[in-house]
Amino acid sequence: MKKAFENRLLHGADYNYEQWLDYPEILDEDFELMKKASCNVMSVGIFSWSMLEPAEGEYRFDWLDRLLDRLHGNGLRAILATPSGSKPAWLSRKYPDACRMGPDGRREPHGGRHNHCRTSASYREACVRINTLLAERYKDHPALAMWHVSNEYNAGRCHCPDCLAAFRAWLERKYGTIENLNKAWWTTFWSHRYSSWEEIEPVDNSVHGLMLDWARFTSDQTLDFFLAESEPLRRITPAVPITTNFMMPDVGLDYWKFARHVDVACWDSYPRWHVDGNDETVGARTAFFHDLNRSFKGKPFLLMESTPSGTNWQGLSKPKKPGMHLLSSIQAIAHGSDSVQYFQWRQSRGGEEKFHGAVVGHAGAESSRVFRDVAEVGGFLEAIAPVAGSSTRAEVAVIYDFHNSWALDLAQLPNTVSKRYQETCIAHYSAFWRMGVACDLADSVESDFSRYRLLAVPMLYMFREGVAERLRAFVNAGGILVATYLTGVVDGSDLCALGGTPGGLTDVFGLAVTATDTALPADRQEIRLSSADFPGGGSYAVADYADLADPRGATVHAAFTVGELSGGPALTEMRYGKGAAWYVAGRTGADFLDRFYGTLRERLSLSAPLATVPPGVSVRERIGDGKRFAFFMNFRETAAAVDLAGVAYRDLATGEPVTGALSLGPFGVRALVAGE
Ligand code: GAL
Repeated sequence: MKKAFENRLLHGADYNYEQWLDYPEILDEDFELMKKASCNVMSVGIFSWSMLEPAEGEYRFDWLDRLLDRLHGNGLRAILATPSGSKPAWLSRKYPDACRMGPDGRREPHGGRHNHCRTSASYREACVRINTLLAERYKDHPALAMWHVSNEYNAGRCHCPDCLAAFRAWLERKYGTIENLNKAWWTTFWSHRYSSWEEIEPVDNSVHGLMLDWARFTSDQTLDFFLAESEPLRRITPAVPITTNFMMPDVGLDYWKFARHVDVACWDSYPRWHVDGNDETVGARTAFFHDLNRSFKGKPFLLMESTPSGTNWQGLSKPKKPGMHLLSSIQAIAHGSDSVQYFQWRQSRGGEEKFHGAVVGHAGAESSRVFRDVAEVGGFLEAIAPVAGSSTRAEVAVIYDFHNSWALDLAQLPNTVSKRYQETCIAHYSAFWRMGVACDLADSVESDFSRYRLLAVPMLYMFREGVAERLRAFVNAGGILVATYLTGVVDGSDLCALGGTPGGLTDVFGLAVTATDTALPADRQEIRLSSADFPGGGSYAVADYADLADPRGATVHAAFTVGELSGGPALTEMRYGKGAAWYVAGRTGADFLDRFYGTLRERLSLSAPLATVPPGVSVRERIGDGKRFAFFMNFRETAAAVDLAGVAYRDLATGEPVTGALSLGPFGVRALVAGE
């Protein structure tokens, strides 16, 4: 595949040139400002169908020709979008099947965006037609660097007859016979047995197998739509890479599976700095999502969208404080992004997003700190360009599994109010973030475990087919596996494991969980460490979930202390094969996780740039062409000093040597290269 960008980090934005065709002086100014901000790429054409095809079969490419020529003339590349993210009004009128249908049989009215039916033959045909024309017209244009297919696909559901027929065909392929389906879904419960495929309506939340398969189907159907609309691009421009922008991972898509079909993973990141608790917590959480997107393909990703200041759709948003824009932008690079891009270049004058942050606001750029901040990032990215293409090596992975997330959402547990699967994965990940130990995210089915020494599977409630065997093989070969309460409770069909959990692995963990208790605040449940592996012991609060387990050979490092669970195993370790399986039987806070993973880190001598990381500071490395790049980031508003432990570095931005101690200002960030 052609290399889209020649060894540089990308800096740019969604550019809605077509909104400003009546303001030629503004368009002229845009290209001047892009230079001032050291931009080298723009994402264009994202929602421009009604400007490209104002009436069916009537095309207007003149403005896009001019835009691409101007980008090229000004030394910028284009990430060119296909326009399917929103439909022109004529299309919804002529082809009503392009609009989604609710479970009540009513079509959604035209409007909004990201809301087309994924099965509609007429919408698919219309997309293929316009995408073919775009690919034919611009295939040799020097500005074309990459395809941005549609925008932020989601798995919003459509209940039209076409989608239901496709769902039933999907089920038939999966189960073969209706009897197999009845068994897998346990439909004898509440007399829910089906006698034909036509009886199946994905509206019954009491049939968990049904709703889980419906979630899987909508994810697959979205991928199928993406493949259909990408086909002309692949055929006509085989050398141009294809991407589509992912979102936060709770939009109903199995991104692990999706990522196989894009050339580069990219995502849109909108953390609420200065709003959602302290910025250190927001920093760890954002790092999790960056690492997830890096892990999807195990190579650099793109930060396709971020805001240069605030947003207008998150209820509460604040502009970034001084320093935060550079810090949050370089954080993405530190975790493996090869770009910093924004939504949006110029704030639109009307419409839903007219108050969303932009590089150039309504008041103009000259006196704006936002513009200066963006220009600073542009300069910084040019200075650290050697980082482009380098990779991250992690010895640790945390499993983040979409099917598990959907199954947990459906599960009617004795405690349904505090499940928080994603937050739990972030909590385990954050312990490594605080230690400065690189961590990947992984899928229980798609990912290769053999590259890791430590694998954490927080709340992996569902063991899909083959997962128990994969985990067993990982431990057998020498891996250290960490599981928690609510692990291996159901199989891939959402049927409960019999004979104790984790299903199929009670011998590997050396214990069998027989029940999960709801730990209320009033219970004051805790984990008390007692083994020599945790010198000095210590007690740690447990909330929400605490498992009742029978030890079957595991070493007990800690016990619960309260009520019926008192004395029962709370932290266990079982040697199995060449490795070991740990079980954390209750939900603890960060205090325990830091202690626990800190102990494992020492035992395994996990590599990390620093032995001790000051609180609030994050350290990440990227490695490439024999060079080790290190990023030091301070997520606190007070200055921090980092002891570089004798390693000699050079500052990539200033060229100066750095040894001994490194100082970081409030929200400060430094990018260094080792040994130069
Ligand atoms: C993204 C979307 C953009 C814009 C942005 C606002 O989710 O792709 O088009 O709406 O949010 O933050």
